[in-house]
Amino acid sequence: MLKIDYRFVMNDLLKAHGLNRNELAAALESAASALLELKARRDKAELGFATVFRDQSLPEACAALARKYKSKFQNLVILGIGGSALGPRALAKALLPDPLLKTSKPRLLVCDNIDPESLSEIFQMAFSARSLFLVISKSGATPETGSQLLYVVNRLKKRYGRSWKKYLLVITDPEKGILRKFADTHGLQTLPVPPKVGGRYSVLTPVGLAPAALLGIDPHELLRGAKIIDQIVFNSRKSPNPACLLAAIFSAFAAKGRNMLVMMPYSSKLADLSEWFAQLWAESLGKKFSLTQKELHAGTTPVRALGATDQHSQLQLYLEGPRDKLITFLKVENFRQELTIPRPAAGLEDLAWLSGRSFAELINVEQFATSASLARCSQPSLTISIPKVDAYNLGALFYLFEVVTVLTASLWKVNPFDQPAVELGKQYTASLMGRPGFEDKEKELAQFEKNAGAFLWPKEK
Ligand code: PA5
Repeated sequence: MLKIDYRFVMNDLLKAHGLNRNELAAALESAASALLELKARRDKAELGFATVFRDQSLPEACAALARKYKSKFQNLVILGIGGSALGPRALAKALLPDPLLKTSKPRLLVCDNIDPESLSEIFQMAFSARSLFLVISKSGATPETGSQLLYVVNRLKKRYGRSWKKYLLVITDPEKGILRKFADTHGLQTLPVPPKVGGRYSVLTPVGLAPAALLGIDPHELLRGAKIIDQIVFNSRKSPNPACLLAAIFSAFAAKGRNMLVMMPYSSKLADLSEWFAQLWAESLGKKFSLTQKELHAGTTPVRALGATDQHSQLQLYLEGPRDKLITFLKVENFRQELTIPRPAAGLEDLAWLSGRSFAELINVEQFATSASLARCSQPSLTISIPKVDAYNLGALFYLFEVVTVLTASLWKVNPFDQPAVELGKQYTASLMGRPGFEDKEKELAQFEKNAGAFLWPKEK
């Protein structure tokens, strides 16, 4: 099971820059009462993300899909963005060999952007082999995903004629939206995004479970790991409660002006987990208004870093730069592969002190050394360890971070399930692309054109 080492946030080591026992106790008490309210909502199945264990038919349907398509395709190509792509990507990165080095199939290709150059490269690879396309969009209305879908359907039809439908699966809302209509019109195979689960909370639904299963990862194991955290957080008296502990520490340091939360796994395999976390944390907590419409501009900025790599890039800033960061390390206790550092060849004797030690030992020693050096600079950090990178522990981490995010939102009194501000940019895009019904935005956009030429370098003639 995962462990949390929080000695490096306490004032015992950090003096005035750490938390004293009373501060931590007070923060834990607030978190515990917020958790009670969450538990009441969870027990009434009001928290969509916490209902993922209830419907066993979903992981089963994903496993059945994997059996149906086993060995039938070389690439699994996901069309999706945000919560529809980051979870599957994090899963694949953690649990499968690097796609570039991978010899066994299928390989995962993720289209989560609309850069025509990289899209062309991905599509070239996808259409030069047997590929299964998986379009994931809860709303069905996301233009990035929609534009990719239009392209892929067109190419599939050209290539396979009437049998194009065999190469496209759809994951979307079970009842409504453009994709639901499209899937129903053509009788495409679909899996649902449960209506109460929002995009960034959907990794433990078919959004993450189906790609996982298709790539050979057991969806039941992901849910088993998540469920154990659900039990510990909501039904055990273990003190401190791990979700309360993390939410309390994150909130206490935010209140002290530490407005950046760095997520730094010491594992390349977990690098994309910090990408997934960044979306979850940023979109859920970055809010102008509280639940009672008070203007507060809540949020702390999630920063992705990677150990040991970023010791040689970001760490100097974390050590001596502004005191605005709290660093969360992710540590792997047992790596699935072992590599020993051999005796030095002639001329490399100065490196002999590394010989006979393992890379696993080195990376974990470096992680500890980094926490300790941060502490010496009065910069707080905490370390979450998992026994190993596998589906069970990944499910546990996904779920723990979801609960912590929602719990932190309760403490900050913001709604973690909406993202009202990003709508405006979507409306401007629709207007600029000539979508009917968005003409009213033209006037608003015109104001940005005023004097635009005066502030261009080089000046327009
Ligand atoms: O968390 C969210 O709701 C968003 O980030 C969505 O995941 C993202 O916008 C993609 O939405 P959709 O799945 O509807 O295409």
